[in-house]
Amino acid sequence: MSSSYKEETSLSLEELALGFVLRMQGYWTEESLDPMIEYLNKKKIPFHRDQLVEKLGQAKRFFNKDPNHLFVCKGRPCLKRQFEGFPKAVLQEFGPDKACPVTFTQCQGPCKQAPFATLRIGTETRQFSQFSNPSDWTLISKQIQNAVVQNTLVIDWGSASPFVFNFTDPTASQDVHLKSLQFLVGHFKGQGRFIDFDKTFDKEIIGAWELGGFLSIRMTATYPMQNGRQDTHRVMVILGKDPAEAHISARAYTDHGMTIDFTIQQNGSELEFEDTPPGRFGKKARARKRIYPVNDGLKEVLEIDRGDGEFKPYYEVIFAKTKL
Ligand code: FES
Repeated sequence: MSSSYKEETSLSLEELALGFVLRMQGYWTEESLDPMIEYLNKKKIPFHRDQLVEKLGQAKRFFNKDPNHLFVCKGRPCLKRQFEGFPKAVLQEFGPDKACPVTFTQCQGPCKQAPFATLRIGTETRQFSQFSNPSDWTLISKQIQNAVVQNTLVIDWGSASPFVFNFTDPTASQDVHLKSLQFLVGHFKGQGRFIDFDKTFDKEIIGAWELGGFLSIRMTATYPMQNGRQDTHRVMVILGKDPAEAHISARAYTDHGMTIDFTIQQNGSELEFEDTPPGRFGKKARARKRIYPVNDGLKEVLEIDRGDGEFKPYYEVIFAKTKL
């Protein structure tokens, strides 16, 4: 039953059966076989129902055979998102002569969460997803070994927790590398205050997860004008992260038809990026924005280096989360 790491060009019924057992975490009903039968027919893979039931029985026995077992998906979406040298890294830690055997399997189900793996200890399973960097996998494999030694999945997963796939937690479908931005999700209102002069303005932000791998921020800034009217600027920002890069990328679309790209660095829970200084500070000026969570809201600070190499606060906004 054990499969090699090489991607199969023609899928065997045996391997598909193991993938199904993993997808169902070892338990299924007659009806839950329907999508698999549909898939086999679509792929023109010959089978008889009795034969399929037999293969599933074999796969389940294999799934439960050892006291613990790690099943790593090598379906196409998972292969695509695994880092170079991943199979070697897995085999160094897990395998037939190690405390936890490993098997490379066909698709285990949640391809959008790729790469994906399942650990079984006794009758319980835990799934891990989105480990696209060597450092992600180091965190996970260390904790898997810890769980194997303690013979339980009820351990403190610590810094590997973001990679533990949770079927019942809706935020689990988010990109784990963006989860630290959760503090930007919601509806926030704040009043901005300039540090050097007595003027205020209003800002509003609505942050939302998009399509599992992006964060959108709708933002308005309203400034009072001398004639009593108000000048409102609107911006839509989309943030995303390539796991191979250390930074977060963002693109802002303004209501003036401009597109601005930002490279955002993360310092713990603080975000920092280069911004455009107000024109009156001249060509030598530089600006940077810092955004970080505060009690029940967030704080935005724009700092300006007026040309002497020192960044000083220009304005700050403290946003409070509204109760919609
Ligand atoms: S290909 Fe890995 S979960 Fe589907």
